[in-house]
Amino acid sequence: MKIGIVGTGPMNVALAANWAPHNHQLRIGSRSVDRARAVVATIASKQVSAGDYYDAAKFGDVVFYAIEPASAVTTAAKLREVLAGKVVIDANNVLDNTSGLATHSLAEAIADAVPGARLVKAFNVVRAQTLTRVLPKKRPKLEGQYFSIYHCGNDDGARRTVAALIEELFLDPIDCGDLSHAYELEALGKLAEFLAKQRYGADFAINVAHRRASSPMDSWF
Ligand SMILES: NC(=O)c1ccc[n+]([C@@H]2O[C@H](COP(=O)([O-])OP(=O)(O)OC[C@H]3O[C@@H](n4cnc5c(N)ncnc54)[C@H](OP(=O)(O)O)[C@@H]3O)[C@@H](O)[C@H]2O)c1
Repeated sequence: MKIGIVGTGPMNVALAANWAPHNHQLRIGSRSVDRARAVVATIASKQVSAGDYYDAAKFGDVVFYAIEPASAVTTAAKLREVLAGKVVIDANNVLDNTSGLATHSLAEAIADAVPGARLVKAFNVVRAQTLTRVLPKKRPKLEGQYFSIYHCGNDDGARRTVAALIEELFLDPIDCGDLSHAYELEALGKLAEFLAKQRYGADFAINVAHRRASSPMDSWF
């Protein structure tokens, strides 16, 4: 699969580096192609190339989208045409929701800005430092549990595609239904940020404990 990575932050690097060995082709985009090249050099995989945001968005059948959150809606709007029809993984977390009155998530605002895209909120609850630490391990577990990766979106096929990309990394996809649940996931993302900074660093996950009877992960054993 071709995966575009819009953004050069630690989330983008952790996922690009760990999807590359699964025979995906990836293109990482930055506002500065030189910065994207420098990031690609740290991954050192022939599967990963560099470009700007537009190049990365155009390249991918799936586009992983994680940038400075205050710019996430306006930047998505600029990529509107090139993202049409694509599965877009929105991992962005809102910075400020202090009014307590918000009912509209950042994910829904991004979806409004790119109405043709098949948007899935995912990977916003796990911390980049956790992914960086655990993804190179095979089948990473913490206290006997796989790491939950929540995802939600209005397009069932897009959610399935994202779930498969999550499972490839031996993480546990938790399907949270339609995009209205992005609001709760963004709140969890903020909680995860607090727990990382104030309590546990990289060594934690906000997990769903569940029976695996019908889980595709059964086939791992
Ligand atoms: N870090 C985590 O643990 C974590 C976990 C979950 C979710 N997230 C979310 O993932 C997103 C990325 O976070 P991050 O910590 O990986 O990196 P970050 O430092 O927040 O963002 C880095 C990216 O944002 C871009 N950027 C900065 N200012 C911009 C602007 N004005 N317009 C357009 N792009 C701009 C940078 O572009 P250049 O490449 O051009 O420099 C870079 O690609 C955020 O929304 C964050 O909430 C982060």
